[in-house]
Amino acid sequence: MPIEIMTRRPETWEVIRLYRAAGLRRATHDPEMIARMITGASLVVSARSDGHLVGLARSITDFCHSCYLADLAVDPCFQKQGIGRSLVLRTKHEVGGTTQLFLLSAATAETFYTRFMELTPETCFQIARTYPAGPQAG
Ligand SMILES: CC(C)(COP(=O)(O)OP(=O)(O)OC[C@H]1O[C@@H](n2cnc3c(N)ncnc32)[C@H](O)[C@@H]1OP(=O)(O)O)[C@@H](O)C(=O)NCCC(=O)NCCS
Repeated sequence: MPIEIMTRRPETWEVIRLYRAAGLRRATHDPEMIARMITGASLVVSARSDGHLVGLARSITDFCHSCYLADLAVDPCFQKQGIGRSLVLRTKHEVGGTTQLFLLSAATAETFYTRFMELTPETCFQIARTYPAGPQAG
């Protein structure tokens, strides 16, 4: 089945199901927060197979200078088929060449970002969130 990459925003329940399947540490116990994460994002690139959501890249961007790729997830049944790479490349395309893309990597995804997406590590600082994000969160 061909994979469709699109910028149409998915439904909250689809995102929760995908994040849980992919083991992405987000507040999936809180549908209201997930809904706000989707509506509040400036760019959501999704991958669908036969209409089903199988991958997602959620970004906050001004489309000219900076883009923070906040979430990237691919359903485990569809991983290692180039979908993650396609989602990042489509995100880069949508934000344009003048935009710097940055993200925080999970330890398990570091090789994907550095070796396969050729992202370069930079120093990063954070103010941690106080929201109790639940057992899957991080
Ligand atoms: C990381 C993730 C998005 C990659 O998606 P994917 O669709 O499997 O990636 P791709 O198929 O486009 O992979 C591109 C290349 O990277 C490799 N790769 C993918 N994930 C990898 C990983 N975690 N570690 C090392 N290499 C990886 C693939 O083998 C592929 O190599 P190839 O071109 O030689 O075949 C996916 O594994 C995922 O959703 N993981 C769980 C959630 C997560 O960790 N998200 C990132 C949070 S920062």
